[in-house]
Amino acid sequence: MQWGMQNRMSRIVQPDTGHTVMLAVDHGYFLGPTSCIEDAQKTIEPLIGYADVLMPTRGVLRNCVSAKTQTPIVLRVSGGTSVIGEALSNEGITTAFEEAIRLNVAGVALSIFVGTPHERQTLLSLSELVNQGERYGIPVIAVTAVGKELGKRDARFLGLCSRIAAELGCHLVKTYYCEEFEKVIEGCPVPIVIAGGPKLETEMDAFRMVADAIKKGAVGVDMGRNIWQNPHPVAMIKAVRALVHENATPDGALEIYMHEKG
Ligand code: R5P
Repeated sequence: MQWGMQNRMSRIVQPDTGHTVMLAVDHGYFLGPTSCIEDAQKTIEPLIGYADVLMPTRGVLRNCVSAKTQTPIVLRVSGGTSVIGEALSNEGITTAFEEAIRLNVAGVALSIFVGTPHERQTLLSLSELVNQGERYGIPVIAVTAVGKELGKRDARFLGLCSRIAAELGCHLVKTYYCEEFEKVIEGCPVPIVIAGGPKLETEMDAFRMVADAIKKGAVGVDMGRNIWQNPHPVAMIKAVRALVHENATPDGALEIYMHEKG
């Protein structure tokens, strides 16, 4: 791996623990002003210091994040569809690679929609992004999207998507946690982070999911709603950090959460 690529990867996956807590705040690119991130600046400000990486679109980055931040950015560069449109899967690349370089990002992220009519276009977009990423030493994160069909989140489907993304050259896969998650990990030769998905009923549900994912080999999380839709988002991200970086148990994480929320 060339120096620039390696250096950026080590800004994403922390070299001291081999893990990462990425904070996903890109939801507006297809969901609009989603609950608890209507004012993105207000949501991001208290949390950014606790995230190893922030994942916004360029619009939120430019308008809602201080350029003085020391938190590395993974930029969402795919989109073009909305939750009320015909097909969420009909995504393209929305942001020029030069723009990502200008914004001094640590990585770029794009969704692939395997098993949809737009599978080919999103996979070719991934390949194009990887070509550019290799040229400039910028890691590419492939997000194995499921669109509105959350039921698709099983090991067979996510394993297939993750492996294809890795074969096409991405440097990190973002997928969902699922039963038999170890099979997804086994079949994917690049590191995997998990998304949180829609907010779970209790904090403990989220802690158990993160702990299991780490135990089974995920290098971390790229989590949004289960952090910033929680009434105590800072307490939540601190607890998630303990799970990811310090091998805390779900009970330990709950203790941290209860203590931090005051
Ligand atoms: C995925 O494509 C979304 O844009 C989010 O980045 C992703 O789902 C992670 O956020 P959450 O933990 O809320 O699912």
